[in-house]
Amino acid sequence: MEILHTQRLILLPLTEADATDLFRARGDAEVMEFWDGPPDVTPSETTAIVDTLLSDVRSGAAKYWTIRLLHDGSFAGVCDLSEIQNRESAEIGFMFLRMFWSMGFANEIVGCLLDYAKSLGLKRVTARIHAGNIRSQRLLQRTGFRLVQLLSKYEIRPGVFRDCLRFEATLWELSHMSDRAQTEVW
Ligand SMILES: CC(C)(COP(=O)(O)OP(=O)(O)OC[C@H]1O[C@@H](n2cnc3c(N)ncnc32)[C@H](O)[C@@H]1OP(=O)(O)O)[C@@H](O)C(=O)NCCC(=O)NCCS
Repeated sequence: MEILHTQRLILLPLTEADATDLFRARGDAEVMEFWDGPPDVTPSETTAIVDTLLSDVRSGAAKYWTIRLLHDGSFAGVCDLSEIQNRESAEIGFMFLRMFWSMGFANEIVGCLLDYAKSLGLKRVTARIHAGNIRSQRLLQRTGFRLVQLLSKYEIRPGVFRDCLRFEATLWELSHMSDRAQTEVW
């Protein structure tokens, strides 16, 4: 998997060793407010989730990165391209520790992942978010996504329903600079 860089961040392939850092985000109820699953209660729950994510990476269905500050390597969050359909599409996901919200970091990583998806030959990237997730909505609209579907009472996990919005970015339409995502093979 590739290491990606933005101006201020480095995206490193997720490993088992990242579970402790990831628990800081997944264990925070405010960060998880609009996530499909509930917050993790114990670090071992996060470890089990990381195992599942890594098995999706091994099967080729997804790519997960931890997001770290370029200047000191501090953990800032996690992002992904999942449901990868070769030459067609992928779904984007992102999550930052609260202390890194409102700094434009999410803006940077979405642009970077779109450029990367384009370099893989994908035609579009989609995002499904909860209708109440205004920060994500603003982020997606700012980075070139458009709203394509309202999913009323979508079952986010067994027996739990939320109104969701599906956004889509058509990659050939975007003028994201192809040199913004600098990659190296890991
Ligand atoms: C969704 C999420 C990543 C959005 O984070 P965010 O902080 O709102 O987004 P950004 O990092 O792009 O920051 C944008 C803000 O930073 C400001 N900003 C500050 N410096 C900036 C800079 N150098 N460049 C761009 N924007 C900057 C922008 O003006 C904007 O302000 P606003 O929030 O008042 O509009 C974050 O809220 C999160 O992790 N949520 C929990 C997980 C989640 O719900 N994920 C989505 C489900 S897939």
